[in-house]
Amino acid sequence: MENEVNVMPRIGEKAPAFEAVTTQGKINFPADFKGKWKILFSHPADFTPVCTSEFMTFGKMADEFEALNCQLVGLSVDGLYSHIAWLRTIREKIEYKGMKDVEIHFPLIDDVSMKVAKLYGMIQPGESETSAVRAVFFIDPKDTIRTIMYYPLALGRNFDEIKRVLVGLQTVDNFGVALPADWRPGDEVIVPTAGSCGVAKERVEDKSGEIHCYDWFFCTRRLPKEEVESRLGCAEK
Ligand code: BEZ
Repeated sequence: MENEVNVMPRIGEKAPAFEAVTTQGKINFPADFKGKWKILFSHPADFTPVCTSEFMTFGKMADEFEALNCQLVGLSVDGLYSHIAWLRTIREKIEYKGMKDVEIHFPLIDDVSMKVAKLYGMIQPGESETSAVRAVFFIDPKDTIRTIMYYPLALGRNFDEIKRVLVGLQTVDNFGVALPADWRPGDEVIVPTAGSCGVAKERVEDKSGEIHCYDWFFCTRRLPKEEVESRLGCAEK
């Protein structure tokens, strides 16, 4: 039991598979979302204020994630009827920061048994033994976990950052680059340097002026926002 709670999937590993009942019917995760990016995220409890503000924000941004070929899947250790009643309350009654009539179309998992929460290390007993922490798993089209975030119960997540991470991961895959601190589309990107495996020396002795080196280990190039945007949502590396 102790081990079961402490299982923590890690970056670079395949997303653990499971079947679950959700507000959109049964799902077989990740198999049902073949070829897509997936964001699997947990919240502590239905009918709580921080979670409500998060769901309204995610619901409002759902089209943006869909445009990035990304399936959102939520989870808490509440049951299906609680989920349905909470989502109806959000849609019919809550107006918050200019958001209203927010409909949640992505699946929300019934995990009363905590089966999925334990599989993904979402139960962190020092924070809570009875609810999931705020976890976010970014899973690529090949079902590999690429980024994990964990937030405590009392702190709502930043959904612009969640979108930035997804865009960043897709940019890394599509352009074979790394991304510096606070990168946003249109900012310069980091290119491999001569010291890196398989990089020809001429690559950094670039005469075209395209590459700028701050030092021998730190070179960047321009990557226009339009070029990034034209490749977002692509499924393959
Ligand atoms: C909330 O979503 O408001 C919340 C949930 C669990 C503990 C604390 C806050």
